[in-house]
Amino acid sequence: MKIDYNKLIVAASDAARRAYSPYSGVSVGAALLAANGTVYTGVNIENASYPAGICAERVAFSAAVTTGEREFIAIAVYGTGAGKGSAAQFPPCGICLQFMREFTVPEEFEVVLGEPEHYSVYKLNELLPISFGPDNINII
Ligand code: THU
Repeated sequence: MKIDYNKLIVAASDAARRAYSPYSGVSVGAALLAANGTVYTGVNIENASYPAGICAERVAFSAAVTTGEREFIAIAVYGTGAGKGSAAQFPPCGICLQFMREFTVPEEFEVVLGEPEHYSVYKLNELLPISFGPDNINII
């Protein structure tokens, strides 16, 4: 499948406008491309009890898995706002990388970071090498 990375980043930045982030001021959007071509979006949703908040990437995966989708090609992540600083890219946190790991082939799944026309594409295993996955756990 030919991936339109620009389109995926635009979907992530559109979603970021719907972030609920009154505490950090950081608005994050994620756009997850499934194997069937559907794009699922997610935003960060913060909470007055700070640790109860959730990142955009896990919201996107949760939305997709809820519909029955289990095969994924790529995710674009776009962050903006107070906490972004001068970084051009907004990389997923470790918990989100682990969440992605569960449903992907790390050598194939792509993480797209940056702006339209100015982005980098990483394989998940570049961001999360030597990962712990479903094969590492014995199902009883
Ligand atoms: N955030 C994400 O949505 N994705 C990440 O991978 C890193 C952090 C959110 C969580 C919180 O609402 C805000 O960014 C600041 O940490």
